[in-house]
Amino acid sequence: MTAAPVVRLPAPVSLRAGDGASVHVQNLTVKFGANTVLSDLTLDVAPGERVAVVGASGGGKTTLLRVLAGLTPHSAGQVQIRQASDTARVRVMFQEDRLLPWLGALDNVTLGLPRTERAFGLTALAGVGLADRADTYPHELSGGQRQRVALARALAHRPALLLLDEPFGALDALTRASMHTLLETLLDETGATTLLVTHDLDEALKLADRVILLRGGEVAEDVRPPAPRPRDRTALEPLRRHLEGQLL
Ligand SMILES: Nc1ncnc2c1ncn2[C@@H]1O[C@H](COP(=O)(O)OP(=O)(O)O)[C@@H](O)[C@H]1O
Ligand SMILES: [Mg+2]
Repeated sequence: MTAAPVVRLPAPVSLRAGDGASVHVQNLTVKFGANTVLSDLTLDVAPGERVAVVGASGGGKTTLLRVLAGLTPHSAGQVQIRQASDTARVRVMFQEDRLLPWLGALDNVTLGLPRTERAFGLTALAGVGLADRADTYPHELSGGQRQRVALARALAHRPALLLLDEPFGALDALTRASMHTLLETLLDETGATTLLVTHDLDEALKLADRVILLRGGEVAEDVRPPAPRPRDRTALEPLRRHLEGQLL
């Protein structure tokens, strides 16, 4: 029997990615054939800000994220993503983990990064509590653990803009709650500007500095939850009811 590989933790390396990017979207229109999905949408996000994006299914939330990631071309308008120091790195995390099944956790995290970044990949994996699973394959991990690997992969690229598309939608309630706590800690550490698409209003109100609601292809609501984080549920109730009314 061979001994389990020893994982040596790197010296503490900060996950801090420098300043978060600023996002400037002006009069953005996206059409798929005759279907206008985003219409004259304007949105400014400050460096380090965390914005939750809510709205009905099919309302263009994923499309907005894909445009910001440069994955979907837009028909009209301007999109600028800026960072003070250099070209802003943008990373997307989707609802499904999109890990490569034939690679272990650490290889998934560091895929596309230079070899020199392996130690940092391990730091990211340690950040999501999975340093001891570096060699574990995705099929040997639970759904929640796979999403943590996917999150570590996004963070290992030191994004200045982190785009999360319903990242916890497929997880059970308990796992989701622990992912919320983890995400808050990691975002505090990295300082990345974050857009979080979610259908869960509680998640939006708990994690974000700002909640925008997309309707008719534009920003129909733009609200800021009152108290500083961590937030008390009762204090959020009026805002929650208001947004729920707008969603229905
Ligand atoms: N690549 C595409 N080609 C054609 N239509 C698309 C494409 N991507 C999205 N759509 C359409 O755009 C609309 C918005 O989709 P999406 O942005 O995924 O909404 P949401 O994420 O809010 O549920 C839907 O009607 C969807 O069918
Ligand atoms: Mg979507």
